[in-house]
Amino acid sequence: MATIFSDSDESIALLSRKLLEGELVAVPTETVYGLAAVAFNPEACAKIFEVKERPSFDPLIVHLPIGFDPKQISNPSPLLAPLAEKFWPGPLTLVVEKKPIIPDIVTSGMDSVAIRMPRHPVFQRLLKKCGKPLAAPSANPFGYVSPTTAAHVEENLGDRISSILDGGPSEIGLESTILDIRNPDQPKILRPGSILKTDLEKVLNRKIFLSKTAPKKQEIMPGQTGKHYSPKTPSFLLDRIDPDEPSKNPKTAYLFFNKPESLNLAENVFWLSEKENLLEAGHFLFERLRQIDRAGFRKLIAEKVPNSGIGIAINDRLRRAAFRET
Ligand code: TXA
Ligand code: MG
Repeated sequence: MATIFSDSDESIALLSRKLLEGELVAVPTETVYGLAAVAFNPEACAKIFEVKERPSFDPLIVHLPIGFDPKQISNPSPLLAPLAEKFWPGPLTLVVEKKPIIPDIVTSGMDSVAIRMPRHPVFQRLLKKCGKPLAAPSANPFGYVSPTTAAHVEENLGDRISSILDGGPSEIGLESTILDIRNPDQPKILRPGSILKTDLEKVLNRKIFLSKTAPKKQEIMPGQTGKHYSPKTPSFLLDRIDPDEPSKNPKTAYLFFNKPESLNLAENVFWLSEKENLLEAGHFLFERLRQIDRAGFRKLIAEKVPNSGIGIAINDRLRRAAFRET
């Protein structure tokens, strides 16, 4: 069992000491919970890969304290300042060229590094106390659904880590938008999130390319592994679920966008938002997937949410949950 610390001056001081001594600490962010180590400490970062059973080719995101100058760890990019001004601290991760101070293990040996300044106040207090960037992937076993509460982290990794900082349920519930800005003429979204393509285009005043998700096996690249965020229950994604289906298949879980009006609300019927609100749907998505896993259904059939706004990121996660290598 890990110890779950609530936010207090004492716990922030203790956890910051642990991090500086090379230990791992699970941390709250506004997107999902992360598993943090000091980014300049390669041995500590190596432990992240061990604990998550994460393949070494999948690089980590480096989280910055408010006020930290990204030039300390990365080469300047003309797109960074306007994006940081508008979206940091917040759920936007930028892929930039790295400086040698970032150890190879963090970036899987690549010349680029993914950086983000999170806005969760409790995580920011810990970052400020440490005074150093913290490398942190989502705090889940590799490939499983990301955690959005301290209890999720305890459930999956409690026997492998000693400390979890509790900052309440993650507000957004979906991982950050990842934007590669190394080529200023062709900024590219590697993972959709709550900061939208249209928001980014407005700030940069240029067209942004969205990498296609769920690539074929031979095309798999860091940040774009097809199978990811997957519940244990074999999952399928449909445009529409026939309202007659759930009553015919009680061992299959059905996940709708909104609360289905016409249905008998049986135990195999789930929904993401009672009021058809995409933000609420994003907030609850991973909780629902975990709930369905715990209940032990044979199969999960999910319905796509409207593909606009944050719905694009929700459908991306649902598609990855249902991804099969062929
Ligand atoms: O919201 C988030 O981004 C959360 C919180 C904890 O900050 N973190 C998160 O980390 O989702 P992770 O490791 O689960 O997902 C990060 C993704 C990975 O798929 C990784 O391959 C990609 O970012 N990534 C990291 N560094 C990269 C780089 N240099 N180039 C391309 N992709 C990169
Ligand atoms: Mg992850």
